Amino acid sequence: MVKICCIGAGYVGGPTMAVIALKCPDVQVVVVDISVPRITAWNSDQLPIYEPGLDDVVKQCRGKNLFFSTDVEKHVSEADIVFVSVNTPTKTRGLGAGKAADLTYWESAARMIADVSKSDKIVVEKSTVPVKTAEAIEKILTHNSKGINFQILSNPEFLAEGTAIEDLFKPDRVLIGGRETAGGQKAIQALKAVYAHWVPEENIITTNLWSAELSKLAANAFLAQRISSVNAMSALCEATGANVSEVAYAVGKDTRIGPKFLNASVGFGGSCFQKDILNLVYICECNGLPEVAEYWKQVIKINDYQKSRFVNRVVASMFNTVSSKKIAILGFAFKKDTGDTRETPAIDVCKGLLGDKACVSIYDPQVTEDQIQRDLTLNKFDWDHPLHLQPMSPTTVKQVAVVWDAYAATKDAHAVCILTEWDEFKSLDYQRIYDNMQKPAFIFDGRNVVDIEKLREIGFIVYSIGKPL
Ligand code: NAD
Ligand code: UGA
Repeated sequence: MVKICCIGAGYVGGPTMAVIALKCPDVQVVVVDISVPRITAWNSDQLPIYEPGLDDVVKQCRGKNLFFSTDVEKHVSEADIVFVSVNTPTKTRGLGAGKAADLTYWESAARMIADVSKSDKIVVEKSTVPVKTAEAIEKILTHNSKGINFQILSNPEFLAEGTAIEDLFKPDRVLIGGRETAGGQKAIQALKAVYAHWVPEENIITTNLWSAELSKLAANAFLAQRISSVNAMSALCEATGANVSEVAYAVGKDTRIGPKFLNASVGFGGSCFQKDILNLVYICECNGLPEVAEYWKQVIKINDYQKSRFVNRVVASMFNTVSSKKIAILGFAFKKDTGDTRETPAIDVCKGLLGDKACVSIYDPQVTEDQIQRDLTLNKFDWDHPLHLQPMSPTTVKQVAVVWDAYAATKDAHAVCILTEWDEFKSLDYQRIYDNMQKPAFIFDGRNVVDIEKLREIGFIVYSIGKPL
């Protein structure tokens, strides 16, 4: 029986390994993590992440060929294939701070693999890493290896949160990069055999290591670039009376462009787009390509512009002051169907409004109060470095309320900001909300989910991204 061990039981490690276990009953999969609460949660009925369909997959295999453990060293030493799916956040200090990837977690995992291994292993980069990371990892492994043969593969993950299980069941492609040596090719075939249990052969792409590493950064950069492009257009739509949904539809009908990923929004969030583009920018700069770096930097700049444009619109529309006004925030997660708040635009929008002395009342169906309070306290980039927690100032504490119902959030509010496209926000009783709000009652729809005409009929002043005012 092939034994797989995955280091890192997070948003990628957990779902990916659960699906491998489900699809490959002849493979034993153990997911390990240094975080005791995370592993305890994976072994309980309350999984540590919310992901549609995940509970069902885990229930089918846990205890059979899928296990979660904190005994990292034991399971790494017993495995034939070790996936490394640890976090690779943006560096906050030192060389490349604010841009380069922090590979501390990756390096410590690699050193541990070298220390505890007693047999040959395939080590798979699952985390998103800078191009050429495999070379550094190879050095660490081979210098400490006591004659053990390690083959490094790059197998980046392309799942999106909220649709992770669907994406893993039917991936557009699986990408495996390896050395062009006989050993490297053999390792590629071994990993390919795992995915071939359910992924059609033609969807499994094999490349050299550097192409695989770079393709992951490139894919995220291209996706984020589409959002910044449509968001840039949304500003022009508002200035000219064009409607961004109509423009995006017309543009996306061109089969060379395609309709997906053209939804204008308050800005993209999530743990990866910004981090991976900054990483790409840093790599370009290090390789003497400042023009290329500058090009990709613009994708982030437009995203920051879109978030601050939204806050400015709220404040300017409300007579240039939101001081002491209650503002309801509907949705805090970075997209629907996840409880993940990493880099969610809601953080920047709330901080902007709090900076103008507003009182925010926040409701999200999947995000806890603790998480929201923590997010509004942390500095940029600190969210993935748990040691940097700071106490929140007493003024901010008083300005933030987290409630468990959209009606409680909006009661007596001057304005509603919709920041996540949860389906339930489409079917709220907006007449009831209007009746219980201060007048004039404003709605700022950062996700274009509401029916503008209907709400205007009720009496709301409505602002939607890229729509005629
Ligand atoms: P995550 O923070 O949810 O999970 C990482 C886990 O690794 C944490 O539980 C942490 O405790 C554990 N860990 C760190 N160092 C460890 C060590 N030395 N030994 C054992 N465990 C250790 O992160 P994630 O969202 O799963 O992302 C992981 C990687 O995958 C990142 O590089 C990310 O860029 C990439 N990625 C993420 C997504 C996504 O949707 N979240 C999608 C594709 C790729
Ligand atoms: C993204 C990619 O889609 C995955 O392929 C990739 O594996 C992953 O990053 C990663 O490397 O972490 P994810 O961030 O989970 O996945 O979610 P997306 O659906 O890409 O959404 C990202 C952000 O863009 C969200 O805030 C979303 O609301 C926003 N978005 C998305 C828009 O504003 N408009 C769109 O048209 C699409």
